[in-house]
Amino acid sequence: MLSGPKGVSFILALLIALFSSVFLSLMAGASPELLAVSFALTFAWSFIAVYVALEFLIFREINRIYVFLEKVRAKDFKLPRKKVFKASNPLQRLNAEISAYATKKQQEIDELKKLENYRREFLANVSHELKTPIFAAQGFIHTLIDGAVDDKSVRDKFLEKAARSLDGLDVLVQDLLTLSQMEAGDIKMQYEKFDLPELALEVFEQLEEKAASKKVKFRFDRNYEKPIMAYADRSRIGQVLTNLIDNAIKYGTEGGKVTVEFETDKEHVTVAVRDDGPGIEPEHLKRIFERFYRIEKSRSKDKGGTGLGLAIVKHIIEAHRSKVSVTSKPGKGTQFRFRLDRAENH
Ligand SMILES: Nc1ncnc2c1ncn2[C@@H]1O[C@H](COP(=O)(O)OP(=O)(O)O)[C@@H](O)[C@H]1O
Ligand SMILES: [Mg+2]
Repeated sequence: MLSGPKGVSFILALLIALFSSVFLSLMAGASPELLAVSFALTFAWSFIAVYVALEFLIFREINRIYVFLEKVRAKDFKLPRKKVFKASNPLQRLNAEISAYATKKQQEIDELKKLENYRREFLANVSHELKTPIFAAQGFIHTLIDGAVDDKSVRDKFLEKAARSLDGLDVLVQDLLTLSQMEAGDIKMQYEKFDLPELALEVFEQLEEKAASKKVKFRFDRNYEKPIMAYADRSRIGQVLTNLIDNAIKYGTEGGKVTVEFETDKEHVTVAVRDDGPGIEPEHLKRIFERFYRIEKSRSKDKGGTGLGLAIVKHIIEAHRSKVSVTSKPGKGTQFRFRLDRAENH
């Protein structure tokens, strides 16, 4: 209470009255009655004068600012209210309000700067990734126009190379579209009940040729005779499995194995895709889910990767309110795992 206008006026008035009384008492002939009356009068007048000055000139104005700030804050964000309200001194309250507001704004600015950097980096990456196949196709076609078209064997080879570059471009643009639609929230997951081992078999079939070219064998960790029903977006989970198994073939060893396993508990089923390839060094492990992140840039590009596969996997799994994790032992292999809801509870 002493920090409010009344308290401050009281202390100031007391000091002024004391000071003037002490001063009076030094003069000859000052009777105790005179001293008492002078003390009382000085105290009363000083108190009123100081109080009016403080209340009307300063505290009221500060309170107005405070009320205004309060309105801004209510519109803008939620602050921990307790801390601010405890201080009865408006100056302290004001201070607390302003510093909380400034801190919050600074956080917002930092976040925006981070996003801006991210956006710039992403744009640079996209342009770079698009440039490569376009330049390649352009080169082949121009060489053909400049005369190579007359030689039949050269013509076929160049046309095929140009087509392959454009196919790569197509995959890249498709992946980019999927990512951006998922980020914009345009894609809703279409939940349904389906059998996971059956879906995995479909993906095995799709990637059969690719696996055969590297003599890679697909297998389940055991026989899944009974269905394992999940409640998720079937085609999106198919895409997740395709991306993971495709990576396991591409980055695994020639003649290696790709294993898929399912583990159930009461509510969930955990899916794991495992390979026995060279694995991933710990310093890369954290970053492989970032867009365009590749461990060996040139090698990965030769294998037709866009660097977006795992970013898409992460997005899809997160859209299912779950997480994808990876463990890897260099030299031994890599395992990706994610958890889905079991159909039984839906
Ligand atoms: N099973 C794996 N074994 C080793 N490295 C892998 C594996 N899966 C992914 N990676 C690494 O993670 C990177 C990112 O993968 P991904 O996003 O699918 O991109 P891409 O397949 O287009 O290269 C790959 O370039 C590769 O270096
Ligand atoms: Mg991939």
